[in-house]
Amino acid sequence: MANEKSVASSGGSMTFTLETAHEHVSDVIKAIPESLTAFRCPLCGKSFVGYGELERHYALEHPEDVVPVIIVLQLNGKACEVLIEPHWTLQRTLQFRLGLTGAKHMCGKGVCGSCTVIADGRCILACQTLAVELEGVEIQTVEGIAADPKWKTLIDSYCRWDAMQCGYCTTGFLVTAKALLDRNPNPTEEECKEALAGNICICGTYPRHATAIMEAALKMSQPPEPPAAQGFGGFGGPGGFGGPGGPGGPGRRPPGQPS
Ligand code: FES
Ligand code: FES
Repeated sequence: MANEKSVASSGGSMTFTLETAHEHVSDVIKAIPESLTAFRCPLCGKSFVGYGELERHYALEHPEDVVPVIIVLQLNGKACEVLIEPHWTLQRTLQFRLGLTGAKHMCGKGVCGSCTVIADGRCILACQTLAVELEGVEIQTVEGIAADPKWKTLIDSYCRWDAMQCGYCTTGFLVTAKALLDRNPNPTEEECKEALAGNICICGTYPRHATAIMEAALKMSQPPEPPAAQGFGGFGGPGGFGGPGGPGGPGRRPPGQPS
């Protein structure tokens, strides 16, 4: 089946289509608890029923160490309480406290962009930002974008154009692309390249990102097709991208479009 990927999971092997992946990521976001129910000491692993007990535990057993803090993050439209050490980055908090692995830790030095998230409309690097700095800021991760049906068109275009190989950098590119389309719904190839300049792909997928973004922008600017006419008819095929009746047919086409 087109756009179908098999992925390993802790329970064995799962097959995701774009539709089931969308449902899965929505479930992941819904499952994130809004309030803390356990207060675990990150140094010795003991668990406590309340934050006060954890503070007393630190005073008695780790008097030299900094007590973890509780912060509330506005994440993908939902307020989430987390208990972290004050020096934790947002990337680490997302991955190890909230189970959101989309913002990848690749370089960890603010160079590659694989940890990109959107904070109050701007792209930031989650590996370079302390989570405690982000209280009160609206944060969007790739999971929130993937769970929003509005952005399915962008993800579809990425899949259609194979704008990925190992996929490790892809989430960062997608988040950057979404932020670009938020502020510029009809970017040129040059504008796409400029927006993506901070994202590095060691597999070398660069030429395909601008193409995928421009195709998505074109499709998103058009009124939805009636259900019977929906579907991707292949490049240049009827109803397909660049084909008769399809987006990108006559007129503007993304670069690299087969003629
Ligand atoms: S992991 Fe954050 S910029 Fe590379
Ligand atoms: S697809 Fe492998 S690093 Fe970009």
